[in-house]
Amino acid sequence: MFETEKIIPLTDDVFRLLRDSIKDYCGIYFDDNSKYLLEKRLSKRVRSHSLEDFRDYYRLLLYDKKKGEEFAFIVDVLTVNETYFFREMNQLRTLSEEILPELKDKNRGARKIRIWSAGCSTGEEPYTIAMLILEHGYFLGWDIEILGSDINQRVLQYARRGVYRKNSFRTTDEYFMKKYFTKEDNLYIINDNAKRFVNFSCLNLLDPFKIKFVGNMDVILCRNVLIYFDLDSRKKVIHSFHERLVDGGYLLMGHAESIMNISTAFTLKHFKNDMVYQKPQGTAAISLSENSAKFVGGNKV
Ligand SMILES: C[S@@+](CC[C@H](N)C(=O)[O-])C[C@H]1O[C@@H](n2cnc3c(N)ncnc32)[C@H](O)[C@@H]1O
Repeated sequence: MFETEKIIPLTDDVFRLLRDSIKDYCGIYFDDNSKYLLEKRLSKRVRSHSLEDFRDYYRLLLYDKKKGEEFAFIVDVLTVNETYFFREMNQLRTLSEEILPELKDKNRGARKIRIWSAGCSTGEEPYTIAMLILEHGYFLGWDIEILGSDINQRVLQYARRGVYRKNSFRTTDEYFMKKYFTKEDNLYIINDNAKRFVNFSCLNLLDPFKIKFVGNMDVILCRNVLIYFDLDSRKKVIHSFHERLVDGGYLLMGHAESIMNISTAFTLKHFKNDMVYQKPQGTAAISLSENSAKFVGGNKV
């Protein structure tokens, strides 16, 4: 007989306190319908700390010296890490067939490209970018830097290892599997020729201080991440992306995502296969705090 996991009841007021502190920490917002999810996923944790109830757990999140670890745990059990290679192929076609050739001309002096996969989960997205770049022989000898970042250390460990199962290849052409992976039993190990361009870093997208150290990027992909964020947090992240992009740089979001109602600081560029946000040429840095009508709903609109 299995002992049923005892669920500790989460009252409405503590649920709201808890979800607001999670939102403030990482941007992810749980609406009222998610109360049971938090109750179910965190009850065991409350018990493992030998706490009476969720109110005590909330106090721990506020005051305990290990509250950082606790938030890391919460992010791990509550975030969606679903990802796979060559996800949203139309958009990747635009990156490969139109944006990369443009960068080849634009950056031909420095011979350098920097691309950031923000919220990369287990790494399939940044490695996909590496493969697409390698397919263009003309970047040979260039300084290629692809940054994969995520808030979750556990998924980043997988990303750094670069070992995948069949499930990660649901839309991958056999050609790429053969060329860039070594198969061992039922595992696929990414080859060094693609792996060497990709660095991984643990970054909370709501931490503007750390994000400043990311440096300037030609392209940022942030796909299927901000859909879980509340509006204010999305504005903050989009603002950081605007700061990090070079003039004329591109921001690729997931298909279900738009920055309408968030920012007017980008223009929508129409390519053959897709539309992509672009930081216009010659845009001065826009400060959220000083504000600017550019960021809709910023501190001062
Ligand atoms: C659904 S995955 C998206 C993976 C990939 N971009 C894709 O489209 O396939 C969302 C990822 O965003 C990460 N994430 C959520 N909140 C974050 C935050 N505040 N900072 C950085 N990463 C975050 C999660 O840990 C998760 O791995």
